[in-house]
Amino acid sequence: MAARELVLERWVAARANVNIALIKYWGKAAVPTGDDGLPRASARDDANIPAVPSLSLTLADLYTETRARFAPEFEEDQVELDGRALVAEERRRAVVLLDALRKRLDIASPFQIVSRNFVPTAAGLASSASGMAALAAAAGGCAGLTLESDGPLLSELARIGSGSASRSIFGGWVSWEGRHATPVAAPDHMPVAVVIAVIGTGRKAIGSRDAMNHTMRTSPFYAGWVQQAHATFDDALEALRERDFPRLMAAMERSTWRMHASGMGADPPVFYWLPASVAVLAEVAALKAEGTVCGATLDAGPNVKVFCLPKDAGKIAERLAAVPGVAQIITSSPGAGIQLNIEPLESEPHRAPSEVIR
Ligand code: PMV
Repeated sequence: MAARELVLERWVAARANVNIALIKYWGKAAVPTGDDGLPRASARDDANIPAVPSLSLTLADLYTETRARFAPEFEEDQVELDGRALVAEERRRAVVLLDALRKRLDIASPFQIVSRNFVPTAAGLASSASGMAALAAAAGGCAGLTLESDGPLLSELARIGSGSASRSIFGGWVSWEGRHATPVAAPDHMPVAVVIAVIGTGRKAIGSRDAMNHTMRTSPFYAGWVQQAHATFDDALEALRERDFPRLMAAMERSTWRMHASGMGADPPVFYWLPASVAVLAEVAALKAEGTVCGATLDAGPNVKVFCLPKDAGKIAERLAAVPGVAQIITSSPGAGIQLNIEPLESEPHRAPSEVIR
């Protein structure tokens, strides 16, 4: 490996965007475990290896910005998110990623990490993907890693923090199989917009990590989900290559319903949809019946994301905003991969977002 230049006594600031999966990651490949049921120490780097391939689109405007610096004066890593120090499980997830990075690059120093989400908190959009990607990029940046030279390694490190984060390292259309994600097409490969119907919820849904493990353990439909996954993925990839938007939408919806069906078959069920989610899906069906080419998807929560042609985004946003129970509409477009900046130690953290989040 070529010697990398460490960035010392400066911050490395990284921005990573959220991504939305068209073809879902749901379930992990078997990893050797110890008596305690946890992955063996030697297998920690195998965390979040997916059982199925996935395909996503990285979005613009919804991102996490994270600053990292080597902090040899600290005894352990300090991790702050949105102005509060992370503790317990949240901190542990970040430290597992940082440990993997130190191990891979033979580094001993603790890090200071200061992170901020520019994803509307009420949106319940998976900020763990942008968060872990920004963390891998910022800490990796301190160790001299860049997107251009080290994309696969950064993706692998992000994956150790959160599976879907492996895809947020790259911009545009991204596939993920095995240890790291791979960019498959640039953001402008085909014209698309994403209209997100944010559905307010008072209750905390079960997180994706626990939900997929529970589905693997208890759903008789999980085996069927895994069995069909490659065919759905291959179909979507071909549709993407051919810029066949209706076929891509059909594959996305198939992956979505089958992922949720596998969860609904768990015991007790994993059920994320709320009445307003179903009402939005009915409105999407009405739009399709009127001739609008679009497709809907849901992840580990009640929000519905509608992929459409940019020319239809305004109309769809208006229609979905009128559905009772929809709290907010966010319209986004394909976005870039991680961006890095080296900044002096005394610089102000987190400039205001350059673009207004609609
Ligand atoms: O990486 P996680 O634990 O946030 O899991 C993501 C799971 C889904 O969002 C439901 C699907 C996906 O591929 O992003």
